[in-house]
Amino acid sequence: AMEESATNSHGTDDPLSKLPTREGWAQPLVLYKNYWLRPRFAATIMRLQNTFEARHDDIVLATNPKCGTTWIKALAFAITNRSRYEFGNHPLLFRHPQDVVPLIEIPRDGGMTYVETLPSPRLLATHIPLSLFPNSLATCDCHIVYVCRDPKDALVSRWHFENKVHRERSIDFEAAFNMFSEGFSGHGPFWEHCLEYWRESIACPNRILFLKYEDMMSEPVKHVIRLATFLRVPFSIKEEEDGIPEEVVRLCSFDKLSSLDTNKTGELVRPGNLIIEKSVFFRKGKVGDWVNHMSQEMGRKLDCIVEEKLKGTGLVL
Ligand code: A3P
Repeated sequence: AMEESATNSHGTDDPLSKLPTREGWAQPLVLYKNYWLRPRFAATIMRLQNTFEARHDDIVLATNPKCGTTWIKALAFAITNRSRYEFGNHPLLFRHPQDVVPLIEIPRDGGMTYVETLPSPRLLATHIPLSLFPNSLATCDCHIVYVCRDPKDALVSRWHFENKVHRERSIDFEAAFNMFSEGFSGHGPFWEHCLEYWRESIACPNRILFLKYEDMMSEPVKHVIRLATFLRVPFSIKEEEDGIPEEVVRLCSFDKLSSLDTNKTGELVRPGNLIIEKSVFFRKGKVGDWVNHMSQEMGRKLDCIVEEKLKGTGLVL
């Protein structure tokens, strides 16, 4: 069902109007340089190309949606601000992780100026594929942390999220599975998004730290220590003796964050007046929940597709 929409009612100077468009998810997606994006994101990415001003000490947390953005935001915030706050009276107890670290592609208060007003060093997040990064960010030597996840769990998480946020246009799981397997999903193909960051993390390990949700789950303390070292704020021996990495893990754990009133009630408002309940970012927080939504056969099918796409790259998802 791919169709070229060559013109629209606004005339031909709208760059989005020239992009292939496809329906299927709650919102149609446009294909911009090999990635399927919501039209609003595609427009923002184009605009940021030459307007976003990176700083050399920016920290960018990059993810494919539903791969652990909320978690890595909380962890990076807690690590980099640990000398400022007591764990018993921490901003993360009162503010949603999505609020604490802004996505660079989501303007607040109607403009991109919000991230410009933040003091250095900035902690930023993004879902933008590496090859679509704003120019200044692409050429900057700032630190990037990428988190990926088993595509089967990411798909299940995505499907739940989209159906909650767009209740009136929910889709069945099989349709979502088929589209995702074709590479047709927001910020997809999923594996391409991972692969670009993977390649760069191999080429420039000091620039990109490549993490997996499953590894972080099985050894959270080890990963918190690794993250702090990569971000040039390593834990001192005294801090390790005092159990600070464990405190960070506890504060940012799914159980802790999802039990806080501030994350259980209320809403975030995204561009286009899209209202997202804060609780939607916390569902199960488990590895392997895909078995409750797809057959073993479907699981194997998606695994095979992804293996084939990643063959020879060294990346295993
Ligand atoms: P599930 O839907 O599988 O439960 P994102 O933050 O990128 O939107 O991803 C959301 C996914 O991360 C959801 O997965 C959510 O439950 C899980 N998650 C949220 N906070 C978490 C945390 N602190 N630790 C582990 N997983 C978390």
